[in-house]
Amino acid sequence: MTKDEETILIERIGTMKKVRKAVIPVAGLGTRFLPATKSMPKEMLPVVDKPVVQYAVDEALEAGIEHIVFVTGRNKAVIEDYFDLHPELVGTLEQAGKVEQIKSLESLLPAPGATSFTRQQAPHGLGHAVWCARDIVGDEPFALLLPDMVSFGKRGCLAEIMDLYEQTSGNVIAVEQCDPNETNKYGIVGKGPEVGTGFEVTAMVEKPAPAKAPSNYYINGRYILQPEIFQLLGTQKRGAGGEIQLTDAMVRLAASQAFFARPFQGRMFDCGSKEGFIQANVAFALKRADIRGSVLDAIREMVAEQDHVVAA
Ligand code: UTP
Repeated sequence: MTKDEETILIERIGTMKKVRKAVIPVAGLGTRFLPATKSMPKEMLPVVDKPVVQYAVDEALEAGIEHIVFVTGRNKAVIEDYFDLHPELVGTLEQAGKVEQIKSLESLLPAPGATSFTRQQAPHGLGHAVWCARDIVGDEPFALLLPDMVSFGKRGCLAEIMDLYEQTSGNVIAVEQCDPNETNKYGIVGKGPEVGTGFEVTAMVEKPAPAKAPSNYYINGRYILQPEIFQLLGTQKRGAGGEIQLTDAMVRLAASQAFFARPFQGRMFDCGSKEGFIQANVAFALKRADIRGSVLDAIREMVAEQDHVVAA
């Protein structure tokens, strides 16, 4: 690093604001998970025994987040109820002497007053959902977690990009590498010079054809964004799928602010897709001492049966 670059970095860090709030949008329709999502939010689908949205909350709290803003929508009231005490249930568990279970349920709740719920009246897209959180977030940088992306690794993905944010400030996104032939399924970033534990982002393109993709690094659903994104989202025209796209507003923000990316050390499961949801259940079950053995035996048996059928 040259002396000038060092000075710029020190100045930037000197003016860096702490990331205290996280936005978790949960207002999407979840059409890839029909019919289950006809009457149940996809964010409440369980991975082993915890709903998908709980993993995002745990990850946010692990990264030091103090307040969580949920952007909810129609048929999502069950999510708000989930993050509440349940006196009847606690009473029944108390009578049964299940003190440990009560403690474990309570440990999953964010602190009283540390959550807010706002409404996206219609699912106009992720960018629109994030914009709905503008008044609650205010004029400070914030984290954004897409809850159907479930982080699996030693540390949560948000904690990792928080490290990079402390080194760079600006806007930070988490990325992973996809099959170079499948860039048309993801938001892809261009890779610039390495900075700290990540690299500078040189471009952001939504679902580029493999021949046009600037790299195979895709945005995996974790972001730290500066509040100026809200003004841009407020004027953002509808993009792909007729929806207000977050990536389109981030591209506009990149004209005046730096973006950095950090490759995630673990892996993210896309629990909004059937394959990702099943893989997440297997991965988390195999980490659980109480069920690992029986799940592994069952998988081995099923694979052997399938091999037998294929061979016959
Ligand atoms: P997805 O891109 O997975 O969209 O949203 P979706 O509508 O929920 O699901 P499919 O594609 O129809 O199956 C990523 C996250 O953003 C939220 C979703 O709830 C999900 O957590 N979201 C998406 C909103 O809050 N509002 C929207 O308008 C769109």
